[in-house]
Amino acid sequence: MTAQSALKRKTVREPAYSSEQAERGRKVYEANCVTCHLPELDGSANATAEARGAPLVGTRFVQDFGESKVSALFNKMKRDMPSGKPGTLTDQEYLDAASFVLQRNSFPSGAAELTGDTAGDFWIPGAGGGEGLSNYTYVTAVGCLHQDPTRSWLLTNAQELKKTDVPAAGAAPTPAVTEGPGEYTFRLLDAFHYSPEPHNGHKVRVIGYMVRLGAEIRVNVQALQMVSATCGN
Ligand code: HEC
Repeated sequence: MTAQSALKRKTVREPAYSSEQAERGRKVYEANCVTCHLPELDGSANATAEARGAPLVGTRFVQDFGESKVSALFNKMKRDMPSGKPGTLTDQEYLDAASFVLQRNSFPSGAAELTGDTAGDFWIPGAGGGEGLSNYTYVTAVGCLHQDPTRSWLLTNAQELKKTDVPAAGAAPTPAVTEGPGEYTFRLLDAFHYSPEPHNGHKVRVIGYMVRLGAEIRVNVQALQMVSATCGN
């Protein structure tokens, strides 16, 4: 997918369901799903309960359904749920249950209902910082370079990753443009090849390949340039 089409795609941050529909979905959920997925939808992530269902909110939800269309969530429910008696609800009930799950993941409701057709139009956003970018996209980001207690290198306070061109061999490095601090943290892979130690705590530009690992985004470093000797937040 190009960066262009990534920007234009519709996500569930725009309303994809109505609040009446989510309310119907809550009833479907309470009648058919709550025993395994629990009232807070945290399922097996809830250490104190003996739940058998996967969590339907939070990191696990982003990991399994981020960068997918809502239709993938609907299809999963219809194909496998309720576990043990899959496909026993109507399509409308599965759509309503999907709306309830979207609502509990803090996506907004609007005037229109989610339908079998619109479920194929809306994307669920993936892990923050690399939305709409596919694995191994060549990217760049500016942020603060830090080594964590496990000695791995992180780029903190970074802006969203931006797609960039792979440089031609021998080409001069692009000048590092200063950017304001952002909200993302990316773990850097192979940073040690680029002598990061002197720049610990500096603002740097990192260029490399984006690697999506579940709900986490990492950058496999191909170049590292210092932007400023302070992180200036
Ligand atoms: C008998 C227990 C049980 C019931 C009832 C149940 N589930 Fe599940 N559900 C599971 C288990 C176990 C998994 C994990 C295995 C799998 O993905 O098939 C799961 C997985 C899921 C997933 C995929 C989660 C992910 O991150 O991959 C969704 C979505 C889901 N359930 C929705 C529902 C809905 C909606 C209902 C009610 C209509 C429901 N489940 C009823 C046990 C249950």
